Amino acid sequence: MNGPEGDLIDIRYDWNKVEIPSSLKEFEKRWATRNNPLDYSGVWRFRELLPFAPEDQIVTIGEGQTRLQQNDGVAKYAGINPGNLFLQYEGMNPSGSFKDNGMTAASTHAKMVGAKVTACASTGNTSASLAIYGGTTGLFNVVVFVGSGKIAYGKLSQALDYGAATLQIEGDFDDALMQVRRVCDEAGIYLCNSVNPFRLEGQKSIMYRVLEGLNWEVPDWIVVPGGNLGNSSAFGKAFIELKELGLIDRMPRLAIINASGASTLSKLYNEHGLSWNDGEPDLKLVADYFQKMDEEDGRACTIASAIEINRPVNLLKSLRTLDACDGVVRDVSDELILDAKAQVGRFGFGCEPASGASVAGAKLLREQGIIAPSDRVACILTGHQLKDPNATVAYHSGNHQALDRTGPVEPHFGNAPISVANDFSAIMDVINNLPSL
Ligand code: F0G
Repeated sequence: MNGPEGDLIDIRYDWNKVEIPSSLKEFEKRWATRNNPLDYSGVWRFRELLPFAPEDQIVTIGEGQTRLQQNDGVAKYAGINPGNLFLQYEGMNPSGSFKDNGMTAASTHAKMVGAKVTACASTGNTSASLAIYGGTTGLFNVVVFVGSGKIAYGKLSQALDYGAATLQIEGDFDDALMQVRRVCDEAGIYLCNSVNPFRLEGQKSIMYRVLEGLNWEVPDWIVVPGGNLGNSSAFGKAFIELKELGLIDRMPRLAIINASGASTLSKLYNEHGLSWNDGEPDLKLVADYFQKMDEEDGRACTIASAIEINRPVNLLKSLRTLDACDGVVRDVSDELILDAKAQVGRFGFGCEPASGASVAGAKLLREQGIIAPSDRVACILTGHQLKDPNATVAYHSGNHQALDRTGPVEPHFGNAPISVANDFSAIMDVINNLPSL
């Protein structure tokens, strides 16, 4: 999936050959025909906007049944006016993360080319997603590469349960991705990481659903966690195309939020001045940065294991997004990520730590005066809360051994379990003293 210069291939369409609806509202007609699996899918009901597959080749398992939801509790936490903060909860996908939006598209392409074996490296969600597509459709056998001890248990359990051959590499995600790319080249296995441009085509649909949730109005801000930078790259491409097609009249701004312990993009963009530069980013700057990182054996480290990545493979594509969407990049501490995650949970949407980064980022950008209280902000919640129960329980019980990876984490919204004897009056004592009653 590499282009001639080693950078990534991008999908381009000849839009003149596609029958594009005259307005995004036209897509609403498909709500009435949800018994057609292609109209039910939250990805393929927008199929004219990712027109690379004949309809009879499309592989769908009902992904993308997700909606944008207003949340005033989280808005208050982030300092945004009531009614203006929205959560796009991608945890409701079949494998519990946004990855299914991309994997339906990659699986479709894998089917089109007759692949029998597919593979990926993963911090856990890509592997769960690829495994579920392999398991449900029976179209291909799946091999996943994960860093040993580097993925949350919920995600590991999914890959095992869905029947993927699971290779635990003694290393981290960056090592696993390097290995799987070599293995796929050597063994002719179909690679499903986000170096695969078809994955990104599917992930564009998350933005279509955000627009749908706002009655096709463009929000002021999209805030998204950044790991391997596939999502942010896909989102920018979605908006660039919609603008070119005249289906939106303006671009939203977009914020990519790294964890502070895995902040390659934030450092390169904010401190080293890396930019898209009209399609000619300074590759030497990037190479030097990675060389120094290698010399120092710089490893990513964050409790948000999904985004514990130091060599984001879509780095250059994400620069295009930042350019097109007047973007900003920030990195946030594990403490801020976990506090934001706890607030998301408190107000009804459990998410995993990496997803909390989007709300943490919105709060930070609000404090910095970059997001205004009156801005309409859509935060992407990328993965389900049950993916990583260990992180949640560690936070609420103040387990510093588990929490303090990059520095001390003070859980400001901890809700520790209460131990009590198996004794009625002891239990009543606790009940009568509960501050919340
Ligand atoms: N949030 C979650 C829950 C993720 O699983 C990931 C990436 C991201 C955010 C970052 O998205 O890579 O598009 O910038 N997880 C990958 C995986 C790397 O292997 O599951 P990105």
